[in-house]
Amino acid sequence: MPNNETLLDLEPYRIPQHVAIIMDGNGRWAKKRGLPRHAGHRAGAENLRRIINASVEFGINILTIYAFSTENWGRPEREVRALMKIIARVLDQELKELNAQGVCLHHLGDMTGVEQDLQDKVHNAIELTKNNNRLILNVAFNYGGRAEILHAVRQMLADEIAPETLSESLFSSYLFTRGLPDPDLVIRTSGELRISNFLIWQAAYSEFYPTPVYWPDFGRKELYEAIVAFNQRERRFGLVTETP
Ligand code: IPE
Ligand code: IPE
Ligand code: MG
Repeated sequence: MPNNETLLDLEPYRIPQHVAIIMDGNGRWAKKRGLPRHAGHRAGAENLRRIINASVEFGINILTIYAFSTENWGRPEREVRALMKIIARVLDQELKELNAQGVCLHHLGDMTGVEQDLQDKVHNAIELTKNNNRLILNVAFNYGGRAEILHAVRQMLADEIAPETLSESLFSSYLFTRGLPDPDLVIRTSGELRISNFLIWQAAYSEFYPTPVYWPDFGRKELYEAIVAFNQRERRFGLVTETP
């Protein structure tokens, strides 16, 4: 895809099929500039456009972004309200372009407790983009890994799954990510070195890439650098490397 930014050579590199991002550091990005936290969230939302474009350009097939956790409800009410407004606005402003780009939107999480209007926007976006196949964009919103596992267990009990038939792959098929491969690479911006309840089942063998860059500053070049770093990893999945 032509672009007017620096040419980044991806030729020698394997592209991770599924990249997941913990988009963290909006608050600190704003604080550093003497701005309120919601200004950081706005900048973070704007940054999504860059990362979606770069993901399409680099040939990533699945991008999963952590937008709002089940624990984030515990933040001050004003901040939660600002975040909901920003998420609704992103859907309003970006949907047409996302659809034109061939992005297929999925939601990971539970809609309970979310305002009806926002629920409707999300469902409409999923419906509109369901046949697109250039990039699957999973938005983890009101998402928690533990809540996801409980949700799966409840469904399995309701389906009367026999204990001896329960396998890892059957379990996976009850998660919000059903049908999708596990993430190859999990990126966390802002320098924190924890998983914060994100994809705790699916990321069992993902490569973890922490970067000190705050999310609003994590652009195309930074995503490229993460892919280069991913290529320097040796994924062993518990096995041993062949020695001559
Ligand atoms: C990430 O940025 C966005 C959400 C969690 C919704 P933060 O708001 O967590 O920013 P910091 O970590 O306080 O800097
Ligand atoms: C994780 O970031 C959640 C999202 C990015 C949506 P947090 O800022 O909520 O995580 P902690 O509190 O630092 O663990
Ligand atoms: Mg944070």
